[in-house]
Amino acid sequence: MPQDYEHFISRIHQKTGINLALYKEAQMKRRLTSLYQKKGYSSFKEFFQVLDKDQQLMNEFLDRMTINVSEFYRNAKRWEVLDKSIIPELLSRNPNPKIWSAACSTGEEPYTLAMVLSKHMPLSRIQVLATDIDDNVLAKARRGVYAERSLNEAPREMVKKFFRQDGSYYTVEDDIKKTVTFKKQNLLADRFGGPFDLIVCRNVLIYFTEEAKESIYHKFSAALRPGGILFVGSTEQIFNPGTYDFETADTFFYRKK
Ligand SMILES: C[S@@+](CC[C@H](N)C(=O)[O-])C[C@H]1O[C@@H](n2cnc3c(N)ncnc32)[C@H](O)[C@@H]1O
Repeated sequence: MPQDYEHFISRIHQKTGINLALYKEAQMKRRLTSLYQKKGYSSFKEFFQVLDKDQQLMNEFLDRMTINVSEFYRNAKRWEVLDKSIIPELLSRNPNPKIWSAACSTGEEPYTLAMVLSKHMPLSRIQVLATDIDDNVLAKARRGVYAERSLNEAPREMVKKFFRQDGSYYTVEDDIKKTVTFKKQNLLADRFGGPFDLIVCRNVLIYFTEEAKESIYHKFSAALRPGGILFVGSTEQIFNPGTYDFETADTFFYRKK
């Protein structure tokens, strides 16, 4: 029943500030239906009545709606471009660049940023803002403990330099942790700070409706300094960058004009 989902969307919006209407409907509905069925409920209405009172179930709901997979140096070739060409360009404009990892999940992306930046400037000067809508992933990001598989794409020398190994777990060293500030932020509702020199936003806008995505590109553009760079995920090419005052700097990198 379409009204069942619509009603659920509006109750969730009132309760959490999260507007599910801005996420692709078929995909989101499927994920949430399979969750409530697994829990033994038969409609979104019934599901919400329980969610409203049960924080544990609310956490499971948030976990299901936010897709949290991430890894260090995800799509490693792109991080090489960032290292070899984008960061030198940014540093020549501003030696203290303001950097934002938006929808950072469990921290692999902002920590990768700090590791790459450390090749160009002292760690003591690096500051990365990292945000996500989900408190659970932010808590994990602050702990900084990872299973080996999340390091598959990371260069060996970086793993050696910046992680402490304990059995099959790897903990990010404190001097890297100190460079990243984690904060809760909803890309679809909260204000964007800035001006930034670099915004990294990867593998989240694919879950949003076209309208929501376009509005976020406009907001990223407004939050970047002229010459600042937006780095997107490897399935998230922007086909009409000029619409947002961007020009292509490299594949999946856009420069604010
Ligand atoms: C697939 S992960 C991407 C992680 C990382 N950027 C990467 O590419 O590896 C998507 C993240 O987007 C977050 N997210 C979903 N909706 C969001 C919103 N409205 N505002 C901020 N973050 C959101 C989720 O919590 C999740 O951690």
